[in-house]
Amino acid sequence: MFRSLVCLHSALDGAFFWEQRAVAIARLVHWQLRTTSLYSFRRSIHRIEKGLATRPRREVFAADYIGETVAFLGLLAEAYEEGCTEYREDIAWGATALRAYFAAVKGEDRVEHAREAFQRLALPAGLVANGGEGGVVRPKMPEYGFGIADLLHLARTRHSIRDYLDRPVPRDVIDAAISVAIESPSACNRQAFSFRVFDEPDLVREVAKIPIGIDHADHQIPVLVVLVGNLGAYPEPRDRHLIYIDVSLAAMAFVFGLQVQGVASCCVNWPDIHEREKRMQELLGLASTERPVMLVTAGYLDPEGFAPSSAKRSLEEMRVYNRTVAGGSAHRAGDRVRTP
Ligand SMILES: Cc1cc2nc3c(=O)[nH]c(=O)nc-3n(C[C@H](O)[C@H](O)[C@H](O)COP(=O)(O)O)c2cc1C
Repeated sequence: MFRSLVCLHSALDGAFFWEQRAVAIARLVHWQLRTTSLYSFRRSIHRIEKGLATRPRREVFAADYIGETVAFLGLLAEAYEEGCTEYREDIAWGATALRAYFAAVKGEDRVEHAREAFQRLALPAGLVANGGEGGVVRPKMPEYGFGIADLLHLARTRHSIRDYLDRPVPRDVIDAAISVAIESPSACNRQAFSFRVFDEPDLVREVAKIPIGIDHADHQIPVLVVLVGNLGAYPEPRDRHLIYIDVSLAAMAFVFGLQVQGVASCCVNWPDIHEREKRMQELLGLASTERPVMLVTAGYLDPEGFAPSSAKRSLEEMRVYNRTVAGGSAHRAGDRVRTP
């Protein structure tokens, strides 16, 4: 009964329309049409690298998807030869991992077929490094030139800024901050999102009208970024929340990347409203599986302006160690409703 009511509500309300449609399309493409996408290729390469890094290493792994992974690398290499150079990192990463895989894994029919196909591939010269183990790294914990106090200082001096100077932000500054964001963790390293950057005033104004939260749109916004996630990367409904997590992690890194370069910013909510989603999709030419997740405004702060102080909650209020509902020494009545 309750379930039917929920279904009826979501059907009438339409709030989940885009998400459901996008997940359905992704499912159809992946499981019905059995098409490998760039994102499932990246996921497969990630799983292969994990297999290579696992100790002790299994003798054979990835046999059930190695064939389609090699085939997709071939498609990427063809696209590269035809001028789609944006896939260069995917090709270099994938080919390096596959070379390491075939050096490490042998003996299974599906692996041997895939090995032959891999050897036949014409990979772009100069993109794929020869030699070296590849596929895995031995991470070192570097000595950073800054410590936790500096990081805390950065976090505490960042504020959401809604008053900017009428001064353009150089694109290399934006790009450097995006480069930081690109290094963020993402589910299976799929990186199923993009930064749609607007720094042309008329376009900024047009895009800024679509979300609800830019009531400071009358003020100057030098840069407006729409962070777009691609639900098509996740064919399983259980993973439909991952774009929001991936984008949020990248957004925070982006904001810090701006801040250390002297550029202020403000996150802007993306409301899940069908009509607005449609407007944004049409304006930006988004694919049917792509959704805005949030926006970020950026610019040089007006030193005469104000911002909310936005006090943060205390460490004691927000952090709990080893507490379970069943008890334990730290359990107190009422904690369940107050648990952050
Ligand atoms: C998901 C999200 C949505 C937000 N949406 C808006 C918004 O629509 N308009 C706005 O002015 N600020 C928005 N903010 C900024 C918050 O109001 C701000 O982060 C919060 O009040 C804390 O202030 P601080 O960022 O200065 O620490 C948003 C922040 C987040 C993380």
